[in-house]
Amino acid sequence: MNFSSSSLNFNILPYQEGVKPPVTKPNPAFLTEIGEEGMRDLFRRFYTSLHKSTIKDLFPQSEEEMMIASQHSADFFIQICGGTPYFNQNRGAPQMGRRHAPFAITPEARLHWLVLMEDALQPLVGQISDENMQSFWDYVNVFSIWMINTRE
Ligand code: HEM
Repeated sequence: MNFSSSSLNFNILPYQEGVKPPVTKPNPAFLTEIGEEGMRDLFRRFYTSLHKSTIKDLFPQSEEEMMIASQHSADFFIQICGGTPYFNQNRGAPQMGRRHAPFAITPEARLHWLVLMEDALQPLVGQISDENMQSFWDYVNVFSIWMINTRE
């Protein structure tokens, strides 16, 4: 019999209009395991794939700008995992709803975003404990619902 040893589940929570499920921050141990440089690599990979994706038009159009954007996101994720508050230092208060308001984020765009996030995380499966990986996924899975601001 083929029992999987992994309990990791990259499920995607279905979006229900008007419902914003409670958000739990990722385990700080995710940051301890991945390290700051690992987090920056993760977001470089993620933004490189966003740049070639079907939702690329939402994002800055040049590779240079995308690499800067990836660093802002990495700053945020280091901070939300309990690390150095680089985002506050470099960009100010997170206010993610306000910062995403200029971009039309539909339920479908969120799905594409999450699928590319899973792709970017896959090389780390087995290197990061399943428990910490799951807590990171659960955070992006839920919080990405909060970023939806356009119906279709
Ligand atoms: C877990 C959910 C998410 C988090 C924590 C997050 C975080 C961030 C952060 C930190 C920034 C940089 C803001 C700045 O420096 O001023 C940003 C920008 C942006 N995000 Fe998100 N985001 C999320 C979900 C999404 C989704 C689902 C989309 C669209 C499908 C999206 C699209 C964008 C765009 C277009 C920008 C502006 C360009 C950029 O700086 O990257 N985000 N996001």
